[in-house]
Amino acid sequence: MDAIRVPLIAGNWKMNHGGVSGVVLAASVAEIACETAGIEVVVAPPFTALAAVAHAVEEVAQRRGRAPIGVAGQNLHIEAKGAFTGEVSAPMLVEAGCRWVIVGHSERRQLFGETDELVAKKTLAAIVGGLHPIVCVGETLEERTAGRTLDVVLRQVRAVLEPLGRALGAAVLAYEPVWAIGTGKVATSADAQEVHAAIRATLSQRDGALAARTRILYGGSVKPENSAELLSQLDIDGALVGGASLDADGFGAILRAARPAS
Ligand code: 13P
Repeated sequence: MDAIRVPLIAGNWKMNHGGVSGVVLAASVAEIACETAGIEVVVAPPFTALAAVAHAVEEVAQRRGRAPIGVAGQNLHIEAKGAFTGEVSAPMLVEAGCRWVIVGHSERRQLFGETDELVAKKTLAAIVGGLHPIVCVGETLEERTAGRTLDVVLRQVRAVLEPLGRALGAAVLAYEPVWAIGTGKVATSADAQEVHAAIRATLSQRDGALAARTRILYGGSVKPENSAELLSQLDIDGALVGGASLDADGFGAILRAARPAS
């Protein structure tokens, strides 16, 4: 981590925790975040839990006198409204209390056919709608084994960087090797750092200030036991956490590990 970039830890709950258990978890995470200075924290519940979670977080903020965590959608549609059954737009996420949205998660790319082009359109729709997108990139095991990791990841980065340019300053990038997601196989900190540095170099070719400011998160089997080592790398500015964000103790331990040394 570099001091100019505030570490960001985001919990992607995926299709776990509805409004009832989600409110309890978010309130606990918000309390822990109040005690953990120097980092930014986001949780991404399923759509149906967003408003209740945002409300619970606001209640903690009122009581503690500071906004402890942000709330993210896990996906969005590119249009603001219309006949798109089952979809949710950026303005709707904002109305539900979100300031963030995850875009192009590998599960969206692999299971729901999202292309680089669609991911770029969603990233733009998020920014235009007033949200900070967390744009996910990452290679499959087959691509890594074939030595194509940087080709694939940098192609995905350029697909958002080329059309958006400096507007990408509102976004955070997340490198999530697909083979490390939910498998317990974490990239070594050196391998992750190599990819993060290559992503930052690609941003830098376009805009040095953008590269210096943009946070690049690592995701894929981040746990309390491995988070400090990953976060100690120069170009790893935080984590996008799946399974370990589903309970407050585990996520809280990751938040504490992310605290900058004082
Ligand atoms: P896990 O932490 O469960 O591997 O999930 C990572 C992820 O996909 C976060 O978006």
